[in-house]
Amino acid sequence: MTPTRIAVHEVAPRDGLQMEAVFVPTDDKVAWIDQLSGLGYAKIEVTSFVSPAAIPALRDAEEVMRRIRRAPGVVYTALVPNARGAERAIDGRADEFNLVMSASATHNLANLRMTQAQSFRTLADVTRMAQQAGVAVNVSLSCTFGCPMQGDVPTAEVMGWIDRFIDLGVQGVTLCDTTGMADPGQVLALCSAALARQPGTAFTAHFHDTRGLAGANVFAALQAGITRFDASLGGIGGCPYAPGASGNAATEDVVHLLQCLGHACGLCVESLAPAADTLQALLGHALPSAVRRAGPRWQRHAPPADFDSIRDRALARDAGQGGQA
Ligand code: COA
Ligand code: ZN
Repeated sequence: MTPTRIAVHEVAPRDGLQMEAVFVPTDDKVAWIDQLSGLGYAKIEVTSFVSPAAIPALRDAEEVMRRIRRAPGVVYTALVPNARGAERAIDGRADEFNLVMSASATHNLANLRMTQAQSFRTLADVTRMAQQAGVAVNVSLSCTFGCPMQGDVPTAEVMGWIDRFIDLGVQGVTLCDTTGMADPGQVLALCSAALARQPGTAFTAHFHDTRGLAGANVFAALQAGITRFDASLGGIGGCPYAPGASGNAATEDVVHLLQCLGHACGLCVESLAPAADTLQALLGHALPSAVRRAGPRWQRHAPPADFDSIRDRALARDAGQGGQA
């Protein structure tokens, strides 16, 4: 695979925290996002301008958006579900609206309480509001690789929603595997089809590691030509309105994979660790990232303390046999 510049989008402050039982105090959230800002991300999803009753963990969206320090070159995006959310996000000076709608009719109703047609009308209005305010728009299409309630979504339907949003003038589309149902063959096919159909659009892939396939799916998406990935520090996250949802592709694991493949992304596994330590302390539980647990493959460990005597005994065995192997 030719080395390519990859953009990593940190979604832990939104997709991650929305799934956590604890409310991270606003001061701590702001300090932690400021820590993330120094690490080299292309984009950080800061919060959600949704109903505070639906997602209590992000009820401080305005204050967080207002108080974070913005690093040059980082896009600060926020999830926006409707016009009320758009007004709040404009006040909060979000660089981008991340609109959300599900490719699955069932998940759309469960998560957003609207039919897909109602969601699309709402998001068309929101896109106009963003355009008038000079704010970029990305659409995150949930459940594009399958819905835990409805099953697979036909590719033609996914493409149809992508076309309709691009016709509205959105800049980017994120193909979301909301509950970790994607497999690498499907990812290669769907991502290749999307890129071939809409080559002028900034596509992002968003995987969850629910079934241990996130890394394989990132690899497949890279092969299809995707150059932007959402990931969540420590591997936290999930949609509270999707049965069985669990953590996102962990940022450490995705960055580790990119480093192994020789793709630059502006981040490195080692520099992510202190920000993950902060997150772990704030949440009070261990984080699921595999690389956080095991360390990167280039980390070296000391051999056992009695290694010299093991070696001497092994070599003496040969000497005792007249030096034969
Ligand atoms: N910001 C703040 N409050 C909002 C809001 C927004 N963007 N949108 C709706 N509300 C409030 C309304 O004011 C109303 O409050 P009230 O009960 O105190 O009067 C309440 O939410 C319900 O409003 P309604 O217009 O009837 O919306 P709804 O109940 O159909 O909910 C959503 C629609 C999408 C706004 C809501 O379900 C939601 O925010 N869901 C969260 C989805 C999410 O983040 N999922 C995970 C990420 S994909
Ligand atoms: Zn997600």
